[in-house]
Amino acid sequence: MGEHKVTLVFEDGRTARIEADESDTIYIAALKNRIRIETDCREGACATCKGLCTDGDYYMDDYIDEALSEEEAARREVLTCQMHVTSDCVIEFPYEAALAMKGAPETRPGKVTEIERVSSNVVRLVVMLEDESTPMSFLAGQYVHLGVPGTDAQRSYSFANPPPAGAQAGALEFFIKLLDDGVMSDYLSSRAKIGDDIPVTGPFGRFYLRPPTRPIVMVAGGTGLAPMLSMFGSMIQTGATDQPVHLLYGVNTSDEMFGDDLLSSCQAAGIKLTIETAVVTPDKDLDGAAGHVTSLLRPEIIKGGDCDVYLCGPPPMIEAAESWLRDNGIDPAHIHAEKFLAS
Ligand SMILES: Cc1cc2nc3c(=O)[nH]c(=O)nc-3n(C[C@H](O)[C@H](O)[C@H](O)COP(=O)(O)OP(=O)(O)OC[C@H]3O[C@@H](n4cnc5c(N)ncnc54)[C@H](O)[C@@H]3O)c2cc1C
Ligand code: FES
Repeated sequence: MGEHKVTLVFEDGRTARIEADESDTIYIAALKNRIRIETDCREGACATCKGLCTDGDYYMDDYIDEALSEEEAARREVLTCQMHVTSDCVIEFPYEAALAMKGAPETRPGKVTEIERVSSNVVRLVVMLEDESTPMSFLAGQYVHLGVPGTDAQRSYSFANPPPAGAQAGALEFFIKLLDDGVMSDYLSSRAKIGDDIPVTGPFGRFYLRPPTRPIVMVAGGTGLAPMLSMFGSMIQTGATDQPVHLLYGVNTSDEMFGDDLLSSCQAAGIKLTIETAVVTPDKDLDGAAGHVTSLLRPEIIKGGDCDVYLCGPPPMIEAAESWLRDNGIDPAHIHAEKFLAS
């Protein structure tokens, strides 16, 4: 029987990637990887081991309705003590990783290989993991903690590159907004150089691309575009480009905008991508709307509610978008958001 890659995502966003043989239940496969999923009966009767399978194919051994109702099974809730996977899968658990895993998340040494200013306030940073032969496994949309060289500080950044496929090297790409006075911002604007050591811890996050089965709407504020680029890369890699994607992308001033070239190459690679931009304080030659990106949300974009929505950027943008989407009847289960909270 085949081995499949299974990603376990916990409530606090910490994730673990295990290999699972079809003959093992997920509970047993996790144990073989030193991860102890919460269980009690281990025979499909108590529901302690319940999770939600957000991607992939599986079947279940016997269980009773009291542990998993028909409605729950239809929503792809699973009893992991009875679950066997038949493809790569992603399973979410409603509790923190520390309950299942001993030890801290893995930190890997990395080195800065590229630093490039891509707009008035955004830097593209590429970090190469020292052990290139073992790429970091993550889901498109997730993030890591980067150590800030010369300090004890760590900051969170979303991957802009897609998860590694095949023999891809361990290069990780980030888009980072420069603040006037910030620990990572100061490092990047005044002393960053090729070859600097940067420790990378993770991956983390429950904001990741679900299998594209309905139209997709994305709202990105500033460097909130980064995880969307990772998602586009993943769709291209896996050939999941059938669904239309409507991207609303906003910045504060026209010169902050970046990523034009990357978005064009995503379109050229087959993503059915419609892009609308908004600038809060535009210059005279504005090509796009003036105002906040959330003002671009309109009923016709959300196709009567039949879409998956991804929101990423500053907290006020996310809150405004969520409120509009709720008022316009989108099922909250179809809304996925990442707030770029300050540390
Ligand atoms: C899950 C997650 C993913 C993230 N991904 C990205 C990413 O891909 N790209 C990216 O650019 N950022 C991202 N962030 C934000 C990032 O982690 C840092 O908060 C940001 O880069 C500021 O770091 P700093 O060290 O330069 O400033 P700090 O030293 O942390 O902050 C300096 C001062 O600026 C304030 N501040 C912090 N952030 C902001 C802000 N956005 N706007 C205004 N004031 C602020 C702080 O409150 C503080 O007063 C992410 C945050 C989270 C939680
Ligand atoms: S542990 Fe009881 S149903 Fe799985």
